[in-house]
Amino acid sequence: MKKEIILPYAPILVESTRSIGYSFESALADIIDNSLSKNAKEIHIRFNSAVPQYVAVIDDACGMSNDELIAAMRYGSKSSQDEREANDLGRFGLGLKMASLSQCRKLTVITKQGKEIYGAQWDLDYIISQKDWALKCFDKAEINDLLYVDELRKKESGTIVLWEAFDRMLNGATESQKSKVFDEKIEIARNHISLVFHRFIGDENPTQRIKIYFNNEKVEPKDPFLSNHPATQPLVEQTLLVEDSCIKVKPYILPYADKLSTKDKKMLGDLGDLRQNQGFYVYRNKRLIIWGTWFRLIKQHELNKLARVRVDIPNSLDSLWEIDIKKSAAFLPDIIKKNLVGIVENTVGRSERVYRYRGRNVSDDDLQHIWNPIDNRGCFQYLINRDLPLYKKLEECLDEEGNRYLDSLIKTIEDAFPYSDVYFRLAKSENAVRTSSLDFDEVYKVAVDMIQSIKENGCDIVTFINSMDKIDFFINYPEVVEKIKEDYGSDS
Ligand SMILES: Nc1ncnc2c1ncn2[C@@H]1O[C@H](COP(=O)(O)OP(=O)(O)OP(=O)(O)O)[C@@H](O)[C@H]1O
Ligand SMILES: [Mg+2]
Repeated sequence: MKKEIILPYAPILVESTRSIGYSFESALADIIDNSLSKNAKEIHIRFNSAVPQYVAVIDDACGMSNDELIAAMRYGSKSSQDEREANDLGRFGLGLKMASLSQCRKLTVITKQGKEIYGAQWDLDYIISQKDWALKCFDKAEINDLLYVDELRKKESGTIVLWEAFDRMLNGATESQKSKVFDEKIEIARNHISLVFHRFIGDENPTQRIKIYFNNEKVEPKDPFLSNHPATQPLVEQTLLVEDSCIKVKPYILPYADKLSTKDKKMLGDLGDLRQNQGFYVYRNKRLIIWGTWFRLIKQHELNKLARVRVDIPNSLDSLWEIDIKKSAAFLPDIIKKNLVGIVENTVGRSERVYRYRGRNVSDDDLQHIWNPIDNRGCFQYLINRDLPLYKKLEECLDEEGNRYLDSLIKTIEDAFPYSDVYFRLAKSENAVRTSSLDFDEVYKVAVDMIQSIKENGCDIVTFINSMDKIDFFINYPEVVEKIKEDYGSDS
């Protein structure tokens, strides 16, 4: 046997690895992963959307020596088999190069460790012209001319990753459209980063909070569990032991949509579509990798839509989860699936209860409803509450024939309740339902009619007035209840 060393042909390999499928936002997140793995505290993303477009990620982490920089620029700088620090977000030794060059043609890394500053560059056109893995390494004078080097100089240590010459991303856009396209990508990336790194930039661990800025504007965390919301129900965290590593699983039941303020909705952003985003939220070393899926354990369902389950996996289990290079996909191994089923069923059951009894106290519901949900051996139907004072009054006013008509009318209304239509509309857009649509005078008149009928029946109106705020119709009109109490207080 004779050994032949076949080196890949650089221009072709580099060009083809660009198509691995990174989006702009996932590529940028990969660069931030590197900074966080090296304990950066502050990361500045500086960009220019006018020609010439660039993006620079500037961190205050430990920086690199010259040898470390050269090693970092190598495709496959660290094997996926090597053991990694527990907080290392890297895995393949490829992200810096592949993520960057999937977006642009020129990747420059400038790094400071001690007093020295080093710089190196992968330039796709240079690789093509040299027909080899030719890395540009800069001398001191050349480094002085590099973008943001003065900012780096002021830091104890740190690294700049600079992307220039965006080709694919701006392909097809006219010169005048390019900066708009670029700005849109930046906006998507800002949202993505506020979500995937929310546990680093949020208040989960205030003493170790990381700050990320986009052109000096701080990125605010997007917490998919609204964990600080008083109506969010965090359930008990459970630990699964898999191959000597702990997987932590913590389910949350989100508040029903009408309990969410504008700020909450802003915090949820794209995740505000509850039905779409129910499911597991899988974190690798606290970095969100995949979200909004039940991994086929159960179906996405309208009634499960308040359920979100946080799953924390350490990087020691990477091989089990088959994390992909872009760290945007993970497959659930069977041993973990088995353990998660019970947790999911419990969580989903709670979501269903919150959803079905929204706005009412499930354990102690002493409201007087207009519509009563009646459970008939697993099937439910809404029926009109015939104990309502107005209904009773009407029954009384009508003769026998009139009562038959009333009964038929009510039964027809109940039977034709448009369940599917309501369900469909709610599922599409929860805020489209119009409730509390009567004006003050109309509601006041209803209340007065009720009081009149109660009085005429010789019954006590005090009990009625005192319980008005327990009748679900009046709950939405507290100002009417107050006025009735004022006006009829002396009668009572
Ligand atoms: N901002 C940085 N500060 C210090 N060192 C860095 C920085 N960015 C990258 N490095 C070094 O360069 C190496 C290569 O980074 P690269 O992203 O290519 O691979 P990785 O992070 O090891 O794995 P992955 O392919 O999963 O991202 C890192 O392991 C790290 O040692
Ligand atoms: Mg990396």
